[in-house]
Amino acid sequence: MDFKTQAAAANGLCGLAADALLVVLSGSTPPTDLEAPLAELLAAAIKDGDFTCKTGQCLYAHRVAGVKAGRVMFAHAGDGSVKAWRKAVSLGVGQLKAGGSKTLLVAHAGGFELSADHAEALVAAAEDAVYLYRETKPSAPPAPKLRSVLLACTKAQQPVLAAGLERGLAVAAGVTLARELANRPGNLATPTALADAAKQLGKSHGLKVDVLDRKDCEKLGMGSFLAVAQGSAEPPKFIVARWMGGAKGAAPVVLVGKGITFDTGGISIKPAAEMDEMKYDMGGAASVLGTLCAVAQMKAKVNLIGVIPACENMPDGKAIKPGDVVTSMSGQTIEILNTDAEGRLILCDALTYAERLKPAVVVDIATLTGACVIALGHHRSGLFSGDDALAAELLAAGEQAQDPAWRMPLDEEYDEGLKSHYADMANVGSRAGGAITAAMFLKRFTGKLRWAHLDIAGTAWKSGAAKGGTGRPVPLLTHFVLSRAG
Ligand code: BES
Ligand code: MN
Ligand code: ZN
Repeated sequence: MDFKTQAAAANGLCGLAADALLVVLSGSTPPTDLEAPLAELLAAAIKDGDFTCKTGQCLYAHRVAGVKAGRVMFAHAGDGSVKAWRKAVSLGVGQLKAGGSKTLLVAHAGGFELSADHAEALVAAAEDAVYLYRETKPSAPPAPKLRSVLLACTKAQQPVLAAGLERGLAVAAGVTLARELANRPGNLATPTALADAAKQLGKSHGLKVDVLDRKDCEKLGMGSFLAVAQGSAEPPKFIVARWMGGAKGAAPVVLVGKGITFDTGGISIKPAAEMDEMKYDMGGAASVLGTLCAVAQMKAKVNLIGVIPACENMPDGKAIKPGDVVTSMSGQTIEILNTDAEGRLILCDALTYAERLKPAVVVDIATLTGACVIALGHHRSGLFSGDDALAAELLAAGEQAQDPAWRMPLDEEYDEGLKSHYADMANVGSRAGGAITAAMFLKRFTGKLRWAHLDIAGTAWKSGAAKGGTGRPVPLLTHFVLSRAG
């Protein structure tokens, strides 16, 4: 979709050409800055009890006399905050998209000010509303006709809001890529397919992409990553993708994404119910590719390297067994007590590899634990870091991008459960505090790195009727990386 700003005031909307007009309102009383046809329509609806100026309300009218746009939609955005605006735009576009509108004019009334973040949220909401998974579903309904969105604002605001729209488009491209990859079934989104997607992104966006195969990983001593991969007939891939838009020699931001393209649990096999959803266990990897896509599209002046260990976790005659001991790239040995705690086994070697890249900071992103879903649900990602400044940066990026996280503890007491009789550590502790124990495991591989870990098991995927990948935390990560750009 195409997004542009259009110089127009709230009292100058009726004469503008568009197939649909969406007016986002704020305040508990009807706005005073609307032109007569729109003001009268709203007043009549209020009088009839069909609209009460409350957050989340919508009102639709067709062919309103005196209004050039054939469709008029009001959506109420409470206090006009970015969050409420985004919800209102979602509602409005969600209802309009099924119709025949090709062009949409979005305006605001009621006295709140638009910011670049509003513009970005408009793109996010509109792109989200029209996204539909089609790759393996020929019977999916045709794409909505909506092609062009205009954001009405004052002339003075145009440059700021245009920049917001541009950032929104980059983030939305990354989000769409990430959710599309997560939605693809495991038989299509294999480690090889992920590597190919990275190479393709490299070609289209100017990234340098290297893919290490099993032999390369053996040479590097990635005994833990390869142990998970050994139960699968699909060859593992270790993907390294670079966007070097920053100063030459400037230390890169490194993002490490868990790329389990399907998690059966291995010999510690998962129950059958909803196991299909474990195709999104590469959501961390997908978010790394999505962020690279967004950052490269913005041509950001920053060095960013994505590191993705990709493989399947399968039960097999060759698969790892509970009790097996493996040697990680760091030299530390690991007793695998549960083969379903495989994410940390592939990430630990990727973190050791990341150290070689001399990073400014390393953030790993993983659908790591069901325990994180229990702790935080589906709204906030779990953030773990011993580095207060880095944690604050990531939290702030999440708030600004409407992709929030919540900080979790990393006290050394939580490390207790990882003790093993037979190796330097076990790969699981007790059930209690499982998201934290998993993070403590990873911490053992981060040495002197400035490191943070995002557990996105609850946020990368929606279950239920609207099930599918969300593309999170691409917005958080993109904002984080952009804020570090020169
Ligand atoms: N991929 C799962 C975590 C997961 C669960 C993601 C639900 C999304 C939704 C991970 O590999 C896993 O199986 N973790 C185990 C760890 C346990 C064995 C310590 C879990 O959470 O049950
Ligand atoms: Mn698992
Ligand atoms: Zn997993």
